[in-house]
Amino acid sequence: MDRIAYVNGSFLPIADAKVSILDRGFLFADGIYEVAAVLEGKLIDNASHLARLQRSVGEISLTLPETTERIQEIQKELVARNNLVEGLVYLEVTRGADKDRDFAFPKGVKPTLVMFTSVKNLNGPGAGAGVSVITVPDIRWPRRDIKSVALLAQVLAKQAAAEAGAGEVWMIEDGMVTEGGSSSAFILTHDDVLVTRHNSPAILPGCTRKAVVALAEERQLRVEQRPFTVAEAVAAKEVFITSATAFVQGVVSIDGKTVGGGKPGPTTGRLRNIYIEFARASAV
Ligand code: PDD
Repeated sequence: MDRIAYVNGSFLPIADAKVSILDRGFLFADGIYEVAAVLEGKLIDNASHLARLQRSVGEISLTLPETTERIQEIQKELVARNNLVEGLVYLEVTRGADKDRDFAFPKGVKPTLVMFTSVKNLNGPGAGAGVSVITVPDIRWPRRDIKSVALLAQVLAKQAAAEAGAGEVWMIEDGMVTEGGSSSAFILTHDDVLVTRHNSPAILPGCTRKAVVALAEERQLRVEQRPFTVAEAVAAKEVFITSATAFVQGVVSIDGKTVGGGKPGPTTGRLRNIYIEFARASAV
């Protein structure tokens, strides 16, 4: 059976799900996206993703074409229509298609809203086995707090990682790790302090990052929100990344140097289990 996608009010086979070549998402990357995980047929931490969607569109003066309540209904309908058990729902909203290519905002144009599902092993065999990371300079624009579809810097960075046989890339600015190509970065120091960069325009405020910080603090784990260097990460007790679809994933090497003993550490494993428990409890 063909996957069913959603485009501006219609559910269609993915091959028929199309937008105009004049769509501003295509022409200018003038759009916002979100990725929410699906576990056991339910959306994980979706309220957090929809809140960030609302914030991102606000930052670029774009109004959602549907309420977030309706967007969640559509996400759920798409999960049901595709019989999705484990994977993700991708959603994108753009400033729509005008009659021509003009940089300034069009008037009276309805935003484009599209969604599709992907099957992905999130919690099955091998899902928490750890990833290797390489580092590259962070060449992105200064508003990384907006979940914009302008992802060329991450595309190039993640391609470099793929060519190096690594599963993720860390981006470096002023000698400090900003974040992963599509994940937030954490280290656990030898004093058992969890360190992750503070939210600012330099990084995306990760939904999984936010949940993991709260869950760790609830369990009396000390958390410091500050930038850290690659050298600190290489010397750390444990290193991990978080994202909607990676959950909590151990980092086993950085630029070819083994970290944290070369396999996901015990605190990483514990936080992964705690996060998955939270994910199930918050699923809709
Ligand atoms: N990426 N930082 C960046 C640059 C990201 O693209 C992502 C997510 C994260 C983690 O955010 P969250 O925990 O809310 O997923 C951090 C998604 C998954 C993607 O682009 O596929």
